[in-house]
Amino acid sequence: MVGMHIDILTLFPNMFSGPFADSIVKRAIDRDLIDIKIHNLRDWGQGKHKVVDDYPFGGGTGMVMKPEPLFEAVEAIKEDSGSLYLPVILLTPQGRVFNQRIAAELAALERFILICGHYEGIDERVREHLVTDEISIGDYILTGGEIAAMVIVDAAVRLLPGVLGSEDSAADDSHASGLLEYSQYTRPQAYRGLEVPEVLLSGNHARIAKWRREQSIMRTLKRRPDLLEKANLSSEEREMISELITEKG
Ligand code: ADE
Repeated sequence: MVGMHIDILTLFPNMFSGPFADSIVKRAIDRDLIDIKIHNLRDWGQGKHKVVDDYPFGGGTGMVMKPEPLFEAVEAIKEDSGSLYLPVILLTPQGRVFNQRIAAELAALERFILICGHYEGIDERVREHLVTDEISIGDYILTGGEIAAMVIVDAAVRLLPGVLGSEDSAADDSHASGLLEYSQYTRPQAYRGLEVPEVLLSGNHARIAKWRREQSIMRTLKRRPDLLEKANLSSEEREMISELITEKG
């Protein structure tokens, strides 16, 4: 039994061969933890020339993705899945901005469809009557939704049970707790005179955990203070942050 199914609708299926053919995503596919199907939207193109786009009504520059290929492709996938409800997610710079919480939301789904947008846009009827969610990976414009689809698949897949080994669990990740991850060191203990912090060699797990937690908080305060408001912090930790801020100011 495959854990999660993802159907990706794209005009550029070849773009996906690299990122999903290596590393952790490939391992998850090989171990049947996920099944990713790449569908060429042109297969549902109109007429002899398999047309998927057209000029915008009302004029203007650029082409617009036609509704028919998208509706028919999604219907074909739904029929194949036998499932009553399938989330249909459009990748677009107008969507809600992707983050770790949305990655976890997707990782909890059994199956979903990703539509990679292109050209100047997509017929509004697709947004209103076919798509159930719209996601952006950030406030910048890509040439299409493909790379955005790869980003969200990668972020969601690594959260699925069994995808990461226990040795590289997702629990400590930057953003997992709303904080950035603490600094990490490995051997050698001294490199070009640069020493690893003494506490990490102490073998005292409680001291190490405390140091790491403080590192996480201080690093977040310095680099991404916007994250602290929503982070999971104790009242002592909030107090420590206020003191640090007052000291700085
Ligand atoms: N398509 C073009 N730009 C995008 C973005 N920032 N996020 C998602 N899809 C996109």
